Amino acid sequence: MLERYGHGGDLETASALYGRAPDDFVDFSSNMNPWGPPAGAREAMLRAWARIDAYPDPAARALRRRLSEKHGVPMEAIWVGNGAAEAIDLALRAIRPAVAAVAAPGFAEYETAVAHAGGRTRDLALRAEEGFALRAEEIAAAAAGGADAVVLGHPNNPTGRTLGADAIEAALGACRAVVVDEAFLDFSPAEEELTLVRRAAETPGLFVTRSMTKFYAIPGLRLGYLVAHPDEVERIRSLAVPWSANGIALEVGAAALDDAAFAARTLAWLPPERAWLSARLASLGLHPYPSEANFLLVRLPEGVRAGNLQTALGRGGVLIRSAATFRGLGEAYIRLAVKRREQNERLLSALASGLAETAGRTDPAPSAEGRAR
Ligand SMILES: Cc1ncc(COP(=O)(O)O)c(C=O)c1O
Repeated sequence: MLERYGHGGDLETASALYGRAPDDFVDFSSNMNPWGPPAGAREAMLRAWARIDAYPDPAARALRRRLSEKHGVPMEAIWVGNGAAEAIDLALRAIRPAVAAVAAPGFAEYETAVAHAGGRTRDLALRAEEGFALRAEEIAAAAAGGADAVVLGHPNNPTGRTLGADAIEAALGACRAVVVDEAFLDFSPAEEELTLVRRAAETPGLFVTRSMTKFYAIPGLRLGYLVAHPDEVERIRSLAVPWSANGIALEVGAAALDDAAFAARTLAWLPPERAWLSARLASLGLHPYPSEANFLLVRLPEGVRAGNLQTALGRGGVLIRSAATFRGLGEAYIRLAVKRREQNERLLSALASGLAETAGRTDPAPSAEGRAR
């Protein structure tokens, strides 16, 4: 299967499975901003290259200064590292939960990070019939059942839903530590009102993790950060490997934050394009759920299996994410990135033929698994 390492965007596996070169795919299985990277990123990379024989700033001061201005939090409340994945891992190592509650379906790395920290997870069930909203009562029940920490996506991956105020208050009231992963929140025009960074900077036990790889389309560089009370940031620093954010990533990240036009363009593009794509998916008989992120969770029509559809599209050079590896979903769901109009049109026509080809086939496509081995 395409998600053999647990994630979308795996072009090497796609190439082995579908017999095409890695750059011969349109990738809807990972969720990058299709307008990125920002124009200044290349020059920033070359500037950093000229200083590649020196260590990067061990305290990432230039980037933390810009982040401090962006979010209105002190620099001491920010830690910069090698992607949100590292920030999540370190937050959980700092917390050392016995039992951490995580949304199901949710991002698989939360569970891995909890396990790295010596704990185990307990699911907070999200229900399709409730639009996958997280109910505050689920959190209260998990805490009553022994969960001492909560890890939540805001918005959640793969559902694209942000947290309600009641769920946030329930988590903060019931558990000694809360990690809120805002990896995709910069795609929301309501980011300012929704973000918990300012609260995290003042609240011991609340950790907000952020990614710069999705909005600025630099996953190959790796860059993310964490916002927490300065005492918590000090603890994170003591657990981290030095220089985990490299010099090129730091320089590109600063240039990306300076590009206000890039951010404005992305925010103007996403809501109408997502609405357009959702409507077209619905007209193919699919059921996309409302999303505040740059991806859509989609329920397939009766009789279509995600794995078979993924294989049919993959052979034609279009990658989609099967949601079968997300707990609580299974073969009836896929996740799709929102991309540029011409790419979205290619997706729609591939889906139309893929649905016709796979409808009613209940067995997994044998060649996909066979070629993966
Ligand atoms: C919800 C979520 N959080 C965090 C990450 C990790 O992001 P980064 O590339 O910054 O490590 C991902 C990556 O897919 C993600 O989907």
